[in-house]
Amino acid sequence: MTASKSAIEMPILNIEEVYKIYQSEKTETAALRGVSLSIYPGEKVALIGPSGAGKTTLVNISAGILPPTSGKIFWSGISRDISRLSSEQIVRARRQFAGLVFQETKLISHLNVTQNVKLGGYLAGMDSKEIDDRAKMLIDLVGLGDRKKHRPGMLSGGERQRVALAAALITNPKLIIADEVTASLDPLTSEQILDVLDDINRELDVALLLATHAQQVASRAERIIEIKDGIIHATHSSSIRLRSLAETRNLAVDNQHRVAIPEDMMKALGSPRSFKAKIVGQQIHLSIPNDELYEVKKVLTCSVCGALVEKGSQVCKNCGMVIT
Ligand SMILES: Nc1ncnc2c1ncn2[C@@H]1O[C@H](COP(=O)(O)OP(=O)(O)OP(=O)(O)O)[C@@H](O)[C@H]1O
Ligand SMILES: [Mg+2]
Repeated sequence: MTASKSAIEMPILNIEEVYKIYQSEKTETAALRGVSLSIYPGEKVALIGPSGAGKTTLVNISAGILPPTSGKIFWSGISRDISRLSSEQIVRARRQFAGLVFQETKLISHLNVTQNVKLGGYLAGMDSKEIDDRAKMLIDLVGLGDRKKHRPGMLSGGERQRVALAAALITNPKLIIADEVTASLDPLTSEQILDVLDDINRELDVALLLATHAQQVASRAERIIEIKDGIIHATHSSSIRLRSLAETRNLAVDNQHRVAIPEDMMKALGSPRSFKAKIVGQQIHLSIPNDELYEVKKVLTCSVCGALVEKGSQVCKNCGMVIT
């Protein structure tokens, strides 16, 4: 997304300060803690983060499958916060808004490719000629023109995922929301599915929101959102490497002006408990206060190998040196 794009276009998805607390009898898990996010028309956005970060929770809330505990969700074309709508109203509104694709495809086993793709069109009450034309166009677009009469059981995993994509697009939505879309596929098949997603994005101008662990997926996105412990920590523009996120990261500032310093950066600095902050021109310089610097140096660095040692440790985990 370019700055001018966000300035002139309205977002198609707007999430404001969303919290999600899963409650069971004994425990409460805060899966999302004040997440705000906008997706603009035609954008390709990847949502990355470690296992348990809140990716699936965020995409399910974005898709209206899961209600938030608090916060607002706006879809283009619907003036009200969708979390205030009934489930029937959400299902109806979603048909024009988003197509959903998951790691395991949800195709109907006794229907063939064409029938699976058309089904959502009938449920949405579309005109049958429009359904026929659009299904044909979509089946060709995903490269299954010669598999139209096959049932899901006669298709490979990658082909089933193509059917799921075509089915998700039958009602002409503005956005595809996908959770780990390539996770069950081998690298070559994943690459082909990602090519299909690129075609969908380019030819139909459909925006993509893809939750993923995979470098392959994240590197195709034009904006990457990094989530951890239910908070958006950072964003990246294109060309990221999951192993060296620090190189491309823009730290996110939330509605309350908070910035979370990523764990890898904190560890590299010896996990100080405070920073001095100074504005220098357009920059903020953070420095470790002198008293903490002494403590960090004395307690947290192994004198033999230089590795950072956790406070209170007797032995360096890296080289086995006894800390004195
Ligand atoms: N139905 C649920 N009930 C209780 N806790 C849940 C539920 N679903 C998810 N969680 C918890 O919420 C947190 C976020 O889970 P979520 O599935 O959104 O993570 P994720 O980033 O998608 O992880 P992964 O990469 O493993 O798919 C985790 O701590 C998880 O255990
Ligand atoms: Mg998940």
